[in-house]
Order: sequence, then C-alpha cells, then structure tokens
Amino acid sequence: MVSTDHSPVMLQQVVEAMAIRADGRYVDGTYGRGGHAAAILEQLGPDGRLWLLDRDPEAVAHARQRWGDDPRCNVVRDSFSRLDQVLPENLGVDGVLLDLGVSSPQLDTPGRGFSFSHDGPLDMRMDPDSGVSAAEWLADADEREIARVLREYGEEPAARRIARAVSERRMDAPLRTTGELAELVAAVVPQRQQVRGRHPATRTFQALRIHINGELEALRAGLEAALRRLQPAGRLVVISFHSLEDRLVKRFMRDHSRVDPALARLPIVPESARPLLKLAAKARRPQTAEIAANPRARSAVLRVAERLDS
Ligand SMILES: C[S@@+](CC[C@H](N)C(=O)[O-])C[C@H]1O[C@@H](n2cnc3c(N)ncnc32)[C@H](O)[C@@H]1O
Repeated sequence: MVSTDHSPVMLQQVVEAMAIRADGRYVDGTYGRGGHAAAILEQLGPDGRLWLLDRDPEAVAHARQRWGDDPRCNVVRDSFSRLDQVLPENLGVDGVLLDLGVSSPQLDTPGRGFSFSHDGPLDMRMDPDSGVSAAEWLADADEREIARVLREYGEEPAARRIARAVSERRMDAPLRTTGELAELVAAVVPQRQQVRGRHPATRTFQALRIHINGELEALRAGLEAALRRLQPAGRLVVISFHSLEDRLVKRFMRDHSRVDPALARLPIVPESARPLLKLAAKARRPQTAEIAANPRARSAVLRVAERLDS
C-alpha cells in the first residue's frame, strides 16, 4: 500500500517555536504535504502571509491545489536555498521553517526511487527535472568518488567495498533499480558492520540521496538566506533527521549566537562582530508517544533561534 500522506513531525512544538503573529510573514521552505503549513495558517489572520516552497513538483501541486486560492499564500516551486530570489526584494520575514529531508510520499512511492523497501527506478531526485538520477551518477562516477560520498554522507564503514562492487557490476550491466542496489550492498557489507534491525543498504541510500540532491549545500545556503531575511525577533526553526544535518544547523546557530571568539577579547567589540541570533530554546526531540505513532519521527531534532536586532 503506497501512502500519500505525511505526518508532520513535532507539530505542536514547531508551531510554538514559530511564535506566530497573526499579521506576520512566514516561510515554510519544505512544504511536503503541508502539515506544518496548515497549522501555521490556522494562526495567521487575513493580513498574514506564508510562502510555501518545495523543490518537488508533486508537493507543489498539492500546495497549489490546497492553498492556491488562499490570498495569504504564495506557492513556489524552488529550493529554500534560493530564498533571496523567491521573496520580494528587501522583504523581511518573521519566521522560516525548514523540516529537512524527504517526505513519506517521496519515500513510499516506488517510482521516486528513494527507498530500498520498494523496488523502483534508482532515481532519488526531489526535483526529477533537474540534475542526474542516482542510477546515472552511479553509472559514471569514479570509484573513489563513490566511496567518498558513501563515507562522508552515509558514514558507511564499507564504503570502499561497496564502491568497488558498483564499479565491477556496471562493467556487466548498469544498476537500474533500488532493488538491484539494495541487493548488491547487502551482499558486500560484512556482517560485523551491519546494524541489527536495519537494512544493510540504509547508509548507502542516505548518502546517495544527500549527494544527488546536494542537500548539505542547500542547507548551508538556506540557513544563510534565512538569516539575511529574518527581521528582529524572527524565528529560524529547523528539524533535521541525521547527524550531518543537525551538526550543520547546530554550528550555524551557535556561531551566529556568540561574538566571534577571535574578536571577543578586543576592548571594544566591533559592531560587525555582534551576534545575529540568540538560541531560543534547547534542542528538542519528539516524545515517545509521537515516535510510537510515527516511527519516522524517531531521529528528529528541533532547533530554534531568534534574530537579534544587530
Ligand atoms: C520532511 S518533508 C516536509 C514535510 C512537511 N513539513 C509536512 O508537514 O508535510 C521535506 C520536504 O522538503 C522538500 N525539500 C527538501 N529539500 C528542499 C530544498 N532544498 N528546497 C525546497 N524543498 C526541499 C522535500 O521535497 C520534501 O517535500
């Protein structure tokens, strides 16, 4: 059974963290199926505005169908990394939400090629109209580059073995499906490097997805763009789902919420070195009941920062 729904993660906490003003301007940079967006819109009055972004055309079609006629909403098919191009020039916003990663409909639709649990074409692009699919990339990439991607983005200890197996296999026939890749990985990851209860291809699929979609580059650019566009007291709210993303978000918020250590010792701290953010809350994780109801929430980490008047 293929699901087309997505349960919004940490919904209540996200809405609280956004500290929504009825007439404020907000960005949901990762619309998905709009669970968070609907909750934000419940609190927005007629003068409030919400930009709904997603790079996935199916998510955007959903947003247009559901919110296209709502005068408070602007639906845009684009990456949140391009927030500066998406928002009107010089417009400041009161909150930006990034709920990272993939949605349940992306994972559960075999044709999107994100999952080793469903056999389908090995694609993995959030925007199938741009870039190359995972199959195309694996057919051409240098073996060392494949190993690097698996190691860096999947923290996969068997990266070299898997890369070798891919490069040997493609001499006979290219890898075309998620099932073929999952089978190849399962055959070469040694038992001792497998995690109990997890498919041996989990790390490989995560790594390829991050690479194919340039997820960490988009996140870096999206955080910077959000910081430029937030007005004082505006909130930056980010949910991440794996340690590479979370590390990046944590460092970004930390680095912008303290005076540059190199300048902190100067008798007068220059204006330009003042922090731009303050941490608005400690990192939060979903409650046990939410994880029981929605296992995909289990690795979520919510971080919130507030723009200072610097
Ligand atoms: C976890 S889902 C969001 C779910 C959503 N909050 C909800 O309640 O339904 C992540 C969504 O973000 C989108 N996405 C990921 N990276 C993106 C980016 N750089 N720009 C725009 N959308 C992105 C994906 O296509 C996916 O639809």
